[in-house]
Amino acid sequence: MFEFSPANQKRIPEILAKYPDTQSALLPLLTMAQRQEGYVAPQAMVEIGKILKLSPGYVQSVASFYTMYHMHPTGKYIILFCINISCQLNGADELLAYTASKLNIKVGETTADKKFTLHREECLAACSNAPMMRINDTYHEDLSKEKIDKILDSLD
Ligand code: FES
Repeated sequence: MFEFSPANQKRIPEILAKYPDTQSALLPLLTMAQRQEGYVAPQAMVEIGKILKLSPGYVQSVASFYTMYHMHPTGKYIILFCINISCQLNGADELLAYTASKLNIKVGETTADKKFTLHREECLAACSNAPMMRINDTYHEDLSKEKIDKILDSLD
């Protein structure tokens, strides 16, 4: 069972009003569901489909296309570590391995305390400040092991 929170339910008409057709509101509603629950559950896709008059299969096909949507429960902080060319040439592979080791998880896993989920990501368009990672909505650039330590240790 999934329901948007009362505050998010109030936002639905505002979101729909921004678009010429209801289908166009799919990504904003998926984002809102993920921000509410931490991931997009199958029940959320059914609910969004009902609101937008789209089949759950269609909603799932769109949600699964974008790596920014998570289909399983995640940690409080989702780390998307860029491993594309600029970041790779500047040490991303080693820094990703360092981060996984520091968190004691493999890429794709969540820490036992549900604080961090670690994923590889393709280019996040911050190549000039490679290597970089995104944690939730914040970009962290020009990474080093020391900088990663500071960033991860600063998050409660
Ligand atoms: S290659 Fe990492 S941000 Fe573009």
